[in-house]
Amino acid sequence: MREDGKVTVLVSGRGSNLKALIQQQSGYHIHHVISDKADAGGLVIAHEAHIPTTVVLRESHNSIGSFKNAILSAVQETEPTLVALAGFMVLLHPAFVETFYGRLINIHPSLLPNFSGLNTHARALEAGASEHGCTVHFVDTGMDTGPLIAQAKVAILADDTPDTLAARVIVQEHALYSWTTKHVAQGSIRLEGRTVLYSELARTEAASRNFSIF
Ligand code: GAR
Repeated sequence: MREDGKVTVLVSGRGSNLKALIQQQSGYHIHHVISDKADAGGLVIAHEAHIPTTVVLRESHNSIGSFKNAILSAVQETEPTLVALAGFMVLLHPAFVETFYGRLINIHPSLLPNFSGLNTHARALEAGASEHGCTVHFVDTGMDTGPLIAQAKVAILADDTPDTLAARVIVQEHALYSWTTKHVAQGSIRLEGRTVLYSELARTEAASRNFSIF
């Protein structure tokens, strides 16, 4: 991939991962932000950083299929090197995944394959887990089932609540996502079939930053 890899980011919510991706951009370039929510905080962050945005609303479409096709078209129009989902809460159309497979990544707030889906922090506490964290993975047609790229772990403390745990995990998310985005955009982490391949540099950096790779 090109050294200045063009990254299109999809957001539904507050956009703290988007903000971290913008602040830490090096080896990639956030050049467009797309949202399915007109009031997403991520859109404000994009505007402040002078990054072009597109909004695709479910209510502007008669069917879910038409809505999902519109998301695909909007992303294709931005001609991205890489697509990064950052709290984008729409399950993508299989055609989307097929179009961008290997160039489509997501961040999830748990140590996948544990706790896919929602309410991950509360569920990790309820399960009595001793550690928790976040995962960046390539996206496939399932929910949180694509090939895992990297994880950052946090220890669970005896007095943790979902909120205190979430506060420590999100700090790790911001570090992990920009690191992973850089390497995937530069091609030093890439996908062959369902196997993730890492350059020596990516392996060395992951070890020095305490990220787990696979
Ligand atoms: C993040 O914790 C992200 O990992 C999660 O949504 C949050 C978005 O926060 N994503 C998922 O749960 C996807 N399955 P942000 O808008 O502040 O980046």
